[in-house]
Amino acid sequence: MAARGLLWTPFVTAVLLGGALATLPDRSVSPAAGALCVQELKREHFQRAFPSVRKNSSEILPEPPITFRAQLLGLPDLPRWLRYTQRSPYQPGYLYGSPTAKDVGRQLIEVTAYNRHTYETVRQRVIFTIVLSPDAQMPFQAEFFVRNRDVEEVLPPDAQKQFQQALDTMLEQKDWSIVNITSALDRGGRVPLPIEGRKEGVYIKVGSRRPFSDCLVKATSSDNQFRCSLEQQPVIPCYDSFSPQFQIDWCNVTLTDLSGLSTAEGTPVWGDGVLEDASEYNPPTDSPGKAFLADYLLTILLPLLVALLLCLLLAYVMYGRREGLHKRDMKTSDIQMVHHNTIHSNTEELRHMASSRDVPRPLSTLPMFNVRTGERVSPLPGRHDSAHVPLILAQQ
Ligand SMILES: *[C@@H]1O[C@H](CO)[C@@H](O)[C@H](O)[C@H]1NC(C)=O
Ligand SMILES: *[C@@H]1O[C@H](CO)[C@@H](O)[C@H](O)[C@H]1NC(C)=O
Repeated sequence: MAARGLLWTPFVTAVLLGGALATLPDRSVSPAAGALCVQELKREHFQRAFPSVRKNSSEILPEPPITFRAQLLGLPDLPRWLRYTQRSPYQPGYLYGSPTAKDVGRQLIEVTAYNRHTYETVRQRVIFTIVLSPDAQMPFQAEFFVRNRDVEEVLPPDAQKQFQQALDTMLEQKDWSIVNITSALDRGGRVPLPIEGRKEGVYIKVGSRRPFSDCLVKATSSDNQFRCSLEQQPVIPCYDSFSPQFQIDWCNVTLTDLSGLSTAEGTPVWGDGVLEDASEYNPPTDSPGKAFLADYLLTILLPLLVALLLCLLLAYVMYGRREGLHKRDMKTSDIQMVHHNTIHSNTEELRHMASSRDVPRPLSTLPMFNVRTGERVSPLPGRHDSAHVPLILAQQ
């Protein structure tokens, strides 16, 4: 019984924790297709909903690090048009992107906030209802590369307004609106060295209903492109009047003119998938005949030929060459026989000579003779080892 009780404990705890799992009320947004949509995920908003924070609301707790995760409800990732970014767990997260006419409809995004200290989570659903709005169609679009900003720094509404104002004063045209914002990292940019003031850079795309001003057209003229390729500053009349807060790369301005495409043409019309009565399905005509002989020869006959050649070569080595080897073997054994015989007869001869010699024994085999004392000492190490006796003593 006790064991069963122990088994039950984690389950009950899980259920209790699950019951305490916090959710925030749904948030609804309805962005227009073709316009930028930014949703800030405020830390304070989620922080207050963490159970531990709620319980100790009288105490002042240190700010917990919070990270977010956003995904389509029941799916692992975000829709194609929506991106998520957060610089650090102590800064807000952002959902941002620019939906297209194809994304029109309702999309449920589930945002989960994690408290990195207590591992508590808070959920919130963000309901995007994307609408098609003719006001949001901006046929004249220009993209600027801002070098001294990170993407999170231009996403807050104030920063967007600042950029728009800078653009308005420079181009003397008041109807620019931001269409898209892309981090330079998403376009193959690199994370800068951790030096004060270095930023990743961000691409800001603005749109207008009125044609581009002369200044923008000049910025992208071939003359200026050439100067850029030589790494010189391009000559642009409005270059100096832009707000110094934003460092714009005037060599990287892209102008897109979509006024030629009417919105009706841009969006495909889906049929019902059923063919009209009289029409018949015509499969594509057969591909023209092709001779495969050369391919056949190459893929079948060539390897066969090579295999045959190898077989022949192997057969020759196995039978033809073997005889030759055999002959050579015979020859070497002959030589060995002759060699053996020579050694044998030489030994015989030496033995014979040794038995019948009457020459004096070589001096080296005789005992040593001392001239003064007449004493004979055997040179062979024996009774006393001369190496141990000093030389002068030995002479006396
Ligand atoms: C916005 O920028 C992203 C990233 O560069 C791109 O994938 C997307 O197609 C752009 N959307 C529009 C509407 O231009
Ligand atoms: C301009 O932007 C493109 C990517 O859009 C990048 O490959 C290129 O290096 C940039 N040019 C300059 C001069 O920064």
